Order: sequence, then structure tokens, then C-alpha cells
Amino acid sequence: MSDHSIQGVGLGLRSQHYAHILEHQPDVPWFEALADNYLGDGGLPLYHLEQIRKDYPLTFHAVGMSLGSSDPLDVDYLRKLKALTQRFESAWLSDHLSWSRSNGQVANDLLPMPYTTEAAQHVSDRIQQAQEVLGQRLVIENVSSYLSYSMDAMTEWAFLMEVVERADCLILLDINNIYVSAMNHGFEPLPYLEAIPVERVVEMHLAGYEDTGDLLFDTHGQAVHPPVWALYRAALQRFGKRPTLIEWDTDIPAFEVLQHEAQIAERHQQEVHHAQAA
Ligand SMILES: [Fe+2]
Repeated sequence: MSDHSIQGVGLGLRSQHYAHILEHQPDVPWFEALADNYLGDGGLPLYHLEQIRKDYPLTFHAVGMSLGSSDPLDVDYLRKLKALTQRFESAWLSDHLSWSRSNGQVANDLLPMPYTTEAAQHVSDRIQQAQEVLGQRLVIENVSSYLSYSMDAMTEWAFLMEVVERADCLILLDINNIYVSAMNHGFEPLPYLEAIPVERVVEMHLAGYEDTGDLLFDTHGQAVHPPVWALYRAALQRFGKRPTLIEWDTDIPAFEVLQHEAQIAERHQQEVHHAQAA
């Protein structure tokens, strides 16, 4: 899947910025909206999204498919997502390689899967079923992790590859999440990038983490940290100029702060591109 309306460095759409965007029509190539916020039948969020969609291309990001869970897929939820993506003609829809629901309980966090062949088979079957209901290929994002399971039989990137090959889905590569997982588990992040097939990556995410001293957490409440920018440059060398998104979910700053982050990402894109062309 590639949609040429989505290019350059986009921003995560947050309700705090609706008024600013509609009033100033800032120069942003695209927005990524959180699909779960727009599943109601009406109301102000949908109204604002309709207004913004008139001027900007859109992608949708979801958090509720719980693709790794053992509970039955929520088909009603998937049908609502399908209707939303059709109504707004979003370029694509993404969710996470994780689970957040088990036995009807919803966890607040997106929990990683155990990295086994059985788990890869299970989640890839569910992705295929979800794709059938949605009528489109899914874009799957790697999550950060803080714990590992004693039954892990492969690396995180081998597991990701096993899942996407089996399900024939696409990848949203979150560079911050790779860095956070690498630091928390003590692995090198570059082999992770090198294991990912170039043609499957349709989007990259950048965000800030929080360092508690013992662990890194992907809180998405700060500017992108220098080592994540360095890893982003390595990703640009491998994957080329992929659509990239600045995510900021907590302590949401003024819109200009997000635009400044996007400008830094664009500068890295240009520098890497020129260095490769030289
Ligand atoms: Fe992300």
C-alpha cells in the first residue's frame, strides 16, 4: 500500500489543536487521527475532523483491536473502524502488535506478545481476520516493552517479521519504541532495522520517552531525544524518505512545538537524502 497523498512529516491530531488548525491552516502535509476518538455517532470531535479533512490528508491510528489477545475479535469495533476509514477516505489504518484485552478486561497499556511461533501464528491469523472485516490491509506498529517472557523463543524483530509475513500486512515502524525496547532489554537497535524488509514499511513514528533511571517509558510527552534522532537517520538510510509522524500524547504543547519537531525530522530527511545522492 502506498498512498501518494501521504508524504513528508505529519503530526498527530490532538483536540487541543483543532481551533488553531482551523483558524491558521498551518503548512502540515497530513495528520494522523486517533480512530478511537471518532467512533461515536456525532458530536464535536467528528465535526472538527470533517472540517480538518477538507484541507488535509488523513491516516487513522487505532488502539483497540487487541490483535494479540486470546479473546474473540471485536467485529462490531472493526466494522465501526471500517465505516470511519471509508467516510474520511483515510490513506491507511494502523494498530499495534500487542494486546490490551484479556478475558474481557482492558489493560491501560499496550502489552507486548510472547515471542514464540505459536503466538506469531495466533496474531497473524487475527490480523488476517481483521483485514477481511476491514476490507483493507492493516499497518501494524511495533510497541515498546519493559518486560520479557520466559518462553520467548526469538527476538522482537524476528517475531514482527514472522507476523507480517504470515498476515501479509504492512509496518508502521516506531523508531522511539525500538530505541526504548533496545535500552530496556540491552540489545543493539541497528540489527532490528536491518531485519525489516524495506517494502513493508509505509510509515515511521517519532516521539519522546521518559527516563526513570531504571527503564525508559514511551510516554510521548517530550521532544524526540538525540539517540532517537540518530536511529531515525539510520532508518532513513535503510528505508528512504518514508512518511513520518511526530506523536505527542501527554503534556501536549503548543502546536508550534510540534511543527518545530517536524522541521527537525525534515532536516534529517534532507541531509540523509543529500548524503546518499553525493
Ligand atoms: Fe507510535
